[in-house]
Amino acid sequence: MSKIIFDNVHKKFNNIRVLNGVSLEIADREVHVILGRSGCGKSVLLKCLLGIMSLDRGDILVDDLSVKRKRKCKDYIRKFSILFQGNALFDSMTIRENVEFGLRQINYNKSECRIIAEEKLFAVGLEKRVFDLYPAEISGGMQKRAALARAIAIEPEVLLFDEPTSGLDPITSGIICHLLKDTVTNLRITCLAITHDLKVAEFLSDRSSILNDGTIIWTGKTEKMKHCGDEFVENFYHASHVILGAGI
Ligand SMILES: Nc1ncnc2c1ncn2[C@@H]1O[C@H](COP(=O)(O)OP(=O)(O)O)[C@@H](O)[C@H]1O
Ligand SMILES: [Mg+2]
Repeated sequence: MSKIIFDNVHKKFNNIRVLNGVSLEIADREVHVILGRSGCGKSVLLKCLLGIMSLDRGDILVDDLSVKRKRKCKDYIRKFSILFQGNALFDSMTIRENVEFGLRQINYNKSECRIIAEEKLFAVGLEKRVFDLYPAEISGGMQKRAALARAIAIEPEVLLFDEPTSGLDPITSGIICHLLKDTVTNLRITCLAITHDLKVAEFLSDRSSILNDGTIIWTGKTEKMKHCGDEFVENFYHASHVILGAGI
């Protein structure tokens, strides 16, 4: 069970308000995407959820555990895994070692780490020949797969994706989107993705939300966005489709 509640979250930097009362509930096992323009505060919101950034006001609860008690409560942070925007693989470790690294943090022994890492690397569609290569020696799509293997290896209750397709060409983006969707469907866990890319939301999510001017201005079934009646949301929808239609 992993339900996430953002309750009136505020965050500002040097008097610039980035989050100005974000409230949102994400149900257990829901796949939710938060959409918004670049710079609107999506990554800040994820960092607040992970407790990497403190909140100025409000609270975030995951199954009734508050982010504010994170330091006292390892159970809170243990629930999450994140697929970072730039993958965040360690350059000096092989692909296999990158996946094993996360596992070693949670007290698996060496041979268990090796078995689980291989299993997860196969699960994301990587071939054995890449396991002992370094991140710089494989393609961006393969790096994304490796980062996903590392994220799921520790069996999180909540999987977070930060701009999961950024930096990938359109074909690889599509393949990775399919992989992410299959992964969250198979694992049956709660998933929150943040992106500016409407295509990702349309493909991945049950419901989505739009973050603008520091608050969630719309939440609903993703397919309802087009005719939701809110001018900003409908413009966001149409602008994304015009850009996509132009083949950019
Ligand atoms: N550590 C920080 N210090 C100051 N400003 C920050 C910091 N992190 C983010 N910001 C500002 O917060 C705003 C939102 O950033 P971010 O959440 O990264 O946007 P995005 O929606 O593209 O992920 C930006 O204007 C950014 O400059
Ligand atoms: Mg971001």
